[in-house]
Amino acid sequence: MKKRIFSGAQPTGELHIGNYLGALKNWVALQHEYESFFCIVNLHAITLPQNPEVLKKKTLDLARIYLASGIDPQVSTVFIQADVAEHAELAWVLSCVSRMGELERMTQFKDKGKGNTERAGVGLFTYPVLMAADILLYQTDLVPVGKDQKQHLELSRDLAERFNRDYGDAFVIPEPFIPPVGASIQSLQDPQKKMSKSDENLNGSIFLLDDADTVTKKIKRAVTDSGTDIKFDESRPAINNLLTIYHLVTDKSVAECEANFDGKGYGQFKTELAEAVVEFLRPFQARVADYADAELEKILKDGAEKARAIARETLRDVYEKMGIVRLS
Ligand code: TRP
Repeated sequence: MKKRIFSGAQPTGELHIGNYLGALKNWVALQHEYESFFCIVNLHAITLPQNPEVLKKKTLDLARIYLASGIDPQVSTVFIQADVAEHAELAWVLSCVSRMGELERMTQFKDKGKGNTERAGVGLFTYPVLMAADILLYQTDLVPVGKDQKQHLELSRDLAERFNRDYGDAFVIPEPFIPPVGASIQSLQDPQKKMSKSDENLNGSIFLLDDADTVTKKIKRAVTDSGTDIKFDESRPAINNLLTIYHLVTDKSVAECEANFDGKGYGQFKTELAEAVVEFLRPFQARVADYADAELEKILKDGAEKARAIARETLRDVYEKMGIVRLS
C-alpha cells in the first residue's frame, strides 16, 4: 500500500515562484510515489479578513495553479476544503482535545495576531486545530510543508496521540516531510526574509502570473552582495538566492550553474536569470488558462467526493469512540 500525503495552501495573496519551487514542485514529484491529497484551504483563509469576491476568485485560481504546476487530477485528489464539511466538524472535536497553553505557544499566532491577543480572532487562534483536522481526517502518513509549518505539525501529532490514548486509536500519527534545503526562496529585496505573498514590497517576489517585463525588472532590481563571483555561497545570501532560483527553474546542477557564469559579471547573470525565469513561466502561464470553468469544477467536485468518503469514515469512528450519538 502506498503511503498517504496531504498538503494544502490558502487561496490568499498572489502565489510566487518561491511557493512553486518550495512546495508545488515537490508535491508534483511526490504524487506518483504517494497517495496524494492536495487541498485548497479556504476555511483557513478567513482567519484574517478577506474580501468575499476576491476570495471566491482566488479559490478557483489556486486550483488552476495546482493543475498548471503538474498536479494530475487522475493521480491526486484535488479539492476545496469547504466542500468536505468534516474538516470543520473534526476541528470542533479537536478543539475540545486542545489546550489553551499549547495553542498560545504557536509562533504563527503570535506573529499574525501581532501580539495583541485581546484583538486577535478566535479563528486565528484555533487555526492550527483546523489544520490538524485537515491532516488527521485522511489518516495521513506524511505532510509536505515548509519549515514554518513544523510547529503546527507537531501540534497535529500531539492531538492525534492524545486522542488515541484517551479514546482508542482513531488516527495515524503524521510525520513532517520538509523538502531538502535549497528549496527555500528568499525575497529579492531582502535575502534574509522568505519570499512572501504578504510582503508589502512587491519587488521582493516574482509572482507566478507576472509578465515577462515585470519579471525582468524585478530581477534587475534585486539586491546583490559584495563580491563579484557568481557562485553558491552561504555567506552571500543574495547571490546564493538568485543562483538557487536559476538552479531550480533550469534544472541545471549546482556545478553546471557555476560553470555557466564562470568569469561573467552580475549584469550578464541577471540577464540570463531573467530569461530563464521568463522561459520557465511561459508554459506555466499558458497551462493556467487551459481549463474551462466547467472542467475545473468537475475536477474539484470529483476530488471532494473522493475526499469525503474517507473523511466521513474517520469522523464516524471518532464520534463513535467519544460517544457522540448521531442518528442520521
Ligand atoms: N498552514 C498551511 C500554510 O499556511 C496551510 C495548511 C492548512 C496546510 N492545512 C494544511 C498544510 C494541512 C499542510 C497540511 O502553509
